[in-house]
Amino acid sequence: MPATPSESRAPGGPRIAEGRVVVVTGAGRGLGRAHALAFARAGARVVVNDLGVGLDGSAEADDAPAALVADEIRALGGEAAVSTDDIATGEGAAHLVRTALDRFGRLDTLVNNAGFLRDRMLVNLDEDDWDAVIRVHLKGHFLPMKHAAAHWRTEAKAGRVPEARVVNTSSGAGLAGSVGQGNYSAAKAGIAALTLVAAEEFAPYGVQVNALAPAARTRMTERTFAEDMAAPDDGFDAMAPDNVSPLVVYLGSAASHGITGRVFEAEAGRVTLMDGWRRAAQADKGARWDPSELDMAVRGLVAKSPEPERVYGARG
Ligand SMILES: NC(=O)c1ccc[n+]([C@@H]2O[C@H](COP(=O)([O-])OP(=O)(O)OC[C@H]3O[C@@H](n4cnc5c(N)ncnc54)[C@H](O)[C@@H]3O)[C@@H](O)[C@H]2O)c1
Repeated sequence: MPATPSESRAPGGPRIAEGRVVVVTGAGRGLGRAHALAFARAGARVVVNDLGVGLDGSAEADDAPAALVADEIRALGGEAAVSTDDIATGEGAAHLVRTALDRFGRLDTLVNNAGFLRDRMLVNLDEDDWDAVIRVHLKGHFLPMKHAAAHWRTEAKAGRVPEARVVNTSSGAGLAGSVGQGNYSAAKAGIAALTLVAAEEFAPYGVQVNALAPAARTRMTERTFAEDMAAPDDGFDAMAPDNVSPLVVYLGSAASHGITGRVFEAEAGRVTLMDGWRRAAQADKGARWDPSELDMAVRGLVAKSPEPERVYGARG
């Protein structure tokens, strides 16, 4: 017999997304699946989106992961709708938002999560691998946000200012850089900046926008980082994707009121607020520099400033 929603909730956890309608992109597997199930356990109705593509974005035989996750939600006693839209197309993103409105009559939270990898050193990176990765992540965040925000703006203008939420998915690769992932790092850095802009632009419509940089065991990481990602024989399975979802549910719920324009790292039991680019040391001549003067000036600035975060995969 399927568990009732109250039986399936996290032990002791109040259902902080009760009554909300949540769209999760790329929710057929990995982190997106964990987020969709966590929202359902927290009381939300969920639109489970997944195009069902391979790890590199290529079409694959298994094109039904979204339907399987929707079935899992229903087995928990929750409500789910399926979307197989490509979120990186205007038509797909618009249809995704319409699916939430047509099926459930409202939209409260958008979780942008879908994506794939095409890792290569820059010198070997094909133009197509650049375009595909920038498209799915960066455009795949912009378009669903644009269409969801258009709905929320209409609501706000009609006097129904929502408690709407967007949770975006950046990456450590975007915040610090990652060797062999130039396309992915650039897209994920773009998502961090896009989050800051969207948080400002959407604030008048009652929309908060935050991003996370997750780390978890999924098909994206289980081979490359096999040792770090492995599940222990017993005890806390630190790298399970389900450990990232509580922060996503919190940021996607009304409980996070006032928290916007922030980027968090989420891994295992750790939540870390990331602090982005800010001015460090400065030299001001009060006039135009001669290039020959700048060697001393620039070395002085570097000496006075903290070491930057290390690029993932950097030598030495
Ligand atoms: N796993 C990690 O440790 C980690 C670390 C940093 C960032 N991320 C990010 O987290 C997100 C989820 O990754 P994951 O590890 O769960 O990977 P995953 O491959 O398990 O899941 C991604 C899902 O997105 C879907 N998808 C791809 N393109 C799509 C499109 N155009 N439209 C709709 N769905 C599409 C895929 O079919 C897949 O099911 C990604 O944005 C990834 O870059 C993951």
